[in-house]
Amino acid sequence: MTKVPPKQEGDPDTTGHSWDGIEEFDNPMPRWWLWTFYITIIWGVAYTIAYPAWPLVSSATTGMLGYATRGEVAAEIAAAEAANGPINARLAASELTEVAADADLNGYAVSAGAAVYRTWCTQCHGSGAGGAVGYPNLLDNDWLWGGDIENIYLTVAHGIRNEEDDDARYSEMPAFGDILEEEEIAQVAGYVMQLSGGTPPDAEAAAAGAELYADNCSSCHGEAGLGNRDLGAPNLADAIWLYGGDYDTLVETVTWSRYGVMPPWTQRLSEAEIRAVSLYVHQLGGGE
Ligand code: HEC
Ligand code: HEC
Repeated sequence: MTKVPPKQEGDPDTTGHSWDGIEEFDNPMPRWWLWTFYITIIWGVAYTIAYPAWPLVSSATTGMLGYATRGEVAAEIAAAEAANGPINARLAASELTEVAADADLNGYAVSAGAAVYRTWCTQCHGSGAGGAVGYPNLLDNDWLWGGDIENIYLTVAHGIRNEEDDDARYSEMPAFGDILEEEEIAQVAGYVMQLSGGTPPDAEAAAAGAELYADNCSSCHGEAGLGNRDLGAPNLADAIWLYGGDYDTLVETVTWSRYGVMPPWTQRLSEAEIRAVSLYVHQLGGGE
């Protein structure tokens, strides 16, 4: 064990801790360091008072400056909206059929419409607008309710078979399970398959379906199966299917019917946004 030499005049103060003769000085902290330390404490306290800081149960203290990153985003959005205000007003006031001829306005509408589409329409119609079972493809020129700009606008603004908008497009195909015998449904499904060039499982039955079709289906789908846009009744002769053109799906459709619903957008989007997305969709389909 090493002995600690006795303390002499002029030796620095020690804390009295000693390890194997090594002692710990008790020098004061440098003043600059101490002051920096105090300032950071004061700054820290002031910060938590000024800015959102302390977590509470379901929120946090808001801070006296009222600053929030959300507020920053809101201000940016407001600035962007103000910048687009005049062109949006022009879009909302234009004759829909004339927008295409105005290159500036049309260019703006199509790119603004693409953004609206990505936010509000992709979940049902697909990010590439290719659709899915029950959700129509918006890229092709096959339209349930009409593909000119005014009809697309009406569809988008008011939606289809929804309960929120009194001007929604509406029609209902009866469920033929309550109207026709199973055998008759098989016959008419086979006939519809033939209409679009398919090969039904039983050609004889399909032939017998012709009369059933004329009696029960042609009022909506047309004598030759070309559909009726006033009723949103699909063309059954073009091999483009909303729900499917295989035999089993056709039997299912005819037995239970279908009821495709699209929400209205007037409550959620501005007039300019509805026009923009309609123009976007219109040019996707090549524009009727
Ligand atoms: C909740 C799902 C849903 C959303 C979201 C949705 N749609 Fe639809 N949309 C449908 C369905 C279902 C139909 C077909 C209804 C029917 O069977 O007639 C449809 C039909 C359409 C049609 C008619 C197509 C035709 O052939 O006539 C257009 C145009 C359309 N949607 C555009 C849009 C646009 C633009 C948006 C975004 C602003 C949008 N949809 C958002 C479900 C949706
Ligand atoms: C009152 C009008 C009406 C009558 C009558 C009617 N349909 Fe329809 N049909 C519709 C409508 C509207 C749709 C679209 C439903 C939807 O999109 O949700 C439809 C959809 C269909 C589809 C789906 C097409 C696809 O692309 O997937 C088939 C198949 C069909 N009908 C067959 C028939 C047959 C067969 C009959 C006669 C037995 C018949 N319909 C009678 C209105 C009618």
